Amino acid sequence: MNNNPFTTIFGIEPQSLIPRKEEYNKITGEFESEVPVSPGYVITGVRGCGKTVLMTSIQNHFTKSDNWYVLRLNPDLDLFSSAISQLGEYLPLKEERITGANASIAGFGGGIALRSFSDNETILRKMLKEADKRKKRVLVAIDEASGTKNIKAFAHSYQAFIGEKLPVFLLMTALPENFSALSNSKNATFLRRLPKIKLSGLSNILVEEKYRSVLSVTEEKAVALSKLVMGYPYAFQLLGSLLWDAQKDVVDKDLLNMLDSMLCEGSYQAIWEHLTEKEKLVVRAISHSTTMSVREIRSALQMESNQFSPYRENLSENGLINTDTYGKISFSLPRFKEFVIRMEKYM
Ligand SMILES: Nc1ncnc2c1ncn2[C@@H]1O[C@H](COP(=O)(O)OP(=O)(O)OP(=O)(O)O)[C@@H](O)[C@H]1O
Ligand SMILES: [Mg+2]
Repeated sequence: MNNNPFTTIFGIEPQSLIPRKEEYNKITGEFESEVPVSPGYVITGVRGCGKTVLMTSIQNHFTKSDNWYVLRLNPDLDLFSSAISQLGEYLPLKEERITGANASIAGFGGGIALRSFSDNETILRKMLKEADKRKKRVLVAIDEASGTKNIKAFAHSYQAFIGEKLPVFLLMTALPENFSALSNSKNATFLRRLPKIKLSGLSNILVEEKYRSVLSVTEEKAVALSKLVMGYPYAFQLLGSLLWDAQKDVVDKDLLNMLDSMLCEGSYQAIWEHLTEKEKLVVRAISHSTTMSVREIRSALQMESNQFSPYRENLSENGLINTDTYGKISFSLPRFKEFVIRMEKYM
């Protein structure tokens, strides 16, 4: 059916969006404040939790403002040259302004012959100074950052720009495991100190309300749907989309099967493949636990407390498990237990 208000595609702002007001206001408020305390934020969280969607909505907020230049950099490309050419769209300056950079360019925009990192850093610095003169702030948004050479080099220069009080703000998204690898690398003190915003699940109540209004289902049915998706944004979209297309308001066996296979294809398979063999063992033990108690899980794994703790911390940090209740563990993602049990059949 046409006009499905849900999307199963990652990375684009969905029509049925549940705003993350707190995080949104925190970041925009900080960047807009007279004297910003933090020069950047890192949005982290498990695959499909809505990092790109949040970053995009913040980017759009600043794009609408005359006081901001917004750059969206691809971490797989040379970040300096991308930043220069994107800033060039805002700052079409004359060649002589940057002769100190010793680069042959006919203005900051189009047709830039870029030389080396150091040249590019110098050009970028000059452009940021020019932005400062014009009383503009520059937002640098990087989606899916990881410990690549490009990011490390850029972060290093970025730190220097901040030290020079240039008006530049960094907004990055990263999977928790990628961000720890990046921030634990050499010369990454600056990144380590950036405040992190770890996205948790969407509120069950907001999910329920959204289903009620978009799918026109009863409160009771909307509550059941909300419980099923457990606040996981990707599952919220998938389930909504399946129900809309099938014109159903309850989840039957067929629909649940479709949901499971789409969760697997779009997210869980990749999560699984990025676990170490040891982590897979731990995750499997959790999925077979009946009491969900740490004691039972440890004993199935024959692990002492000190052996088990690092796994528990890591899985929790990466957004896979919930350890809020003392002595208990549960999966944070909907249908993940069933997914793991299914995966075991193919091992
Ligand atoms: N606030 C939200 N309200 C409703 N749906 C959302 C929200 N945020 C994200 N989604 C949906 O969740 C899915 C994943 O979103 P997104 O691509 O932002 O995740 P991500 O965290 O960037 O994932 P990845 O780590 O794989 O890049 C998309 O289908 C998106 O429409
Ligand atoms: Mg993303």
